[in-house]
This record gives sequence, structure tokens and C-alpha cells, in this order.
Amino acid sequence: METFKSKITSKKNDISGSVSAKCPSNIALIKYGGKREIQIPMNPSLSFTLNESNTQTELKFKPKNTGEFSLKVFLDKEPKEDFVPKIITFFKRIEEFLPFLNQFEFEIHTHNTFPHSSGIASSASGMGALALCLTELETRLGGDLSSDEKLKKASFLARLGSGSACRSLYPGITVWGETDAVKGSSDCYAVPYPYEVHENFRNFQDTILLIDEGQKEVSSTVGHRLMENHPYAEKRFKSAEENLKRLIPILKEGSLEEFGTIVEHEALSLHAMMMTSNPYFILMKPNTLCVIEKLWEFRKSTALPLFFTLDAGANVHLLYPKKNKQKINDFVENDLKKYCFEAKMIKDFAF
Ligand code: PMV
Repeated sequence: METFKSKITSKKNDISGSVSAKCPSNIALIKYGGKREIQIPMNPSLSFTLNESNTQTELKFKPKNTGEFSLKVFLDKEPKEDFVPKIITFFKRIEEFLPFLNQFEFEIHTHNTFPHSSGIASSASGMGALALCLTELETRLGGDLSSDEKLKKASFLARLGSGSACRSLYPGITVWGETDAVKGSSDCYAVPYPYEVHENFRNFQDTILLIDEGQKEVSSTVGHRLMENHPYAEKRFKSAEENLKRLIPILKEGSLEEFGTIVEHEALSLHAMMMTSNPYFILMKPNTLCVIEKLWEFRKSTALPLFFTLDAGANVHLLYPKKNKQKINDFVENDLKKYCFEAKMIKDFAF
């Protein structure tokens, strides 16, 4: 396996300054669920990067004596002490690849371009942006990675913060998890989707319907752990990989209908696994089902390609080609908005 160990040779660790980076979130079409140590996925996943929903991070650093990690975190200028333990865990995991981490006092200033509790995973964009800042800092300290190597290392590091974050480092379609279906794929970092993508999937839109604004009932750590000893886990890992294999010719040939079948099957499979785990959970709310039923009726009556996917929660992501934007917007306004929490929705486009 290739090594991501730091090759810094010079001793420049007495500098102060700041580095900044921006990273988008992503939505998985083929879902990752279940992992082994450390942050190695049990199945390959594939996502659309959400261009409009970014985290912007500034990492300020000044030298200190070695020892414990020292960091403060601010979200929109407000101190966020509850973010610190997660980042300390992240630093511990990546220290062997960035050995200078305990030689600086850090301040992390972060801002999301999407609202809090919007159904968009800020851990993916947040860890992605922080990983980019850290690889930039490594360069400032004398690291000599090319820009491609830096991105790959940032994806590798982001994975150790939050698995799905590694897919956010590249625009368009991204794959994470080793599979013979995708050349160059790896369990350790994501790769840009290397095959042909039909015009139909360019500028795909994602409108996120916020069904429930409550805190996540099942944290992602707990969600992944539920796959251990799950009676259907092995079948699910295989099914995800099969769905990924089936998606490749569909992405090339442009069949929207077949795309929708796979994407919706993946979303429902993720939820089915949560419903049949021990303990079991229902993450959808009644309004999630109302939206899905309305969407299916609309699709049947209009023949318009409108599909849904779900994260590990109640919110619904509506996926559709940009050329149908107006008709879908009208449908959302007239028939779906009533199921949304405070009628909130976020519009994004994949690429
Ligand atoms: O990156 P994590 O550990 O928060 O896991 C995310 C898992 C899902 O969002 C449910 C699916 C995915 O592939 O993004």
C-alpha cells in the first residue's frame, strides 16, 4: 500500500500564519454503511459532490512546545467547544501522517454556506476543508507533494475524520472503496469517477426537503456499528457493489429511469438495514413517506425523471435533471412543501 507519511525534511516549524480552504458536501447514490478499523468501508460507495454547499475553513497556527494537541474551534465566530473532542480524535488518527500537529497551537475558523440542520452533511465538507488546510500547512512546512498527490492525501486524511468526507475532495462523481468495477479505487481514499458520464447526468439537481429538524436520532458511529453482527450485512455489502456495477453502464448510456431505480433501491436498502438491526430504528417520519408517495404518483402521471435518495435520517433529497427544474419546482411548491419542516428546502446542483 502506498504511504502517506510526511516527507518533510526541513525544520520550518517555528512559523506562524494561516491557511484556508473550501470543500463541498456530497450525497451518496450508492451508500456506505458499515466499517472496520480504521475507517475502512465494508462496501464501495459513489456520490455526487454538491457544488453549492461548502464549508470554508481558516486554520491559524503558531508554534508551541511539543506535547498535547492545542486547538480552538469557531463556527461563524462563535467558540464551539463541543467540536474539539472529534477533532482531537481526528488529530490522533492522522498524527503519524502529519507529525507536526503537536508543535502548533491551532485555531480553526469555519463557516458553512448552507444552513445548520439543512439535511446536508457538514461533517463531510468540514472534515474535507480541514484536511485541505492541513495538507496546505504541510506544504508551507516544506512538504513537496504535487497538487494531485496533495488532493489524494487530503482525501486519505478526511476519511480518517469522517468516512464519507473523503468523497468530497473531488467535483462531480466520486467513488470510495476498493472494487474491481472501478479502476484505481481504494479503501483508503476516494477517486474521481474514471468512466464516461452521459450528458443527462450533468447539472443534476438536488433539492433537499427538510422533513424533520430534530437532532439525528442515530449518530453515524452508531449507525455503522449496527452493521456488525447484522444478519443481512454480508448480503447488503454485496448488493451495494452490484448496484455500483449496474450503475456504470447506466451512467454511460444515460437511462434516467434505470438510474432512478438503483438510486431509490440504495436509499431504501440503507433504511431497511436500520429497521432490521438490533436495536432497530425507523429513521423516516410519516412525512418522508408522504413525499415518496407523492413523488411516485407525480412521476407516473408526468413521466418526468424525478427520483429521491435519503441519508440516515428523515429528509428527502430530490434528484432531477436541470432541464426539468421549473416543473419540479412547481411540484415541490404546490404538493411537497406542506410536508417540510417550516417549509424549508435547500437547492443544490451536483455538477
Ligand atoms: O461519513 P459518515 O461516517 O458520517 O457516514 C455516512 C454514511 C451515509 O451518509 C449514511 C451514507 C454515505 O455513503 O454517505
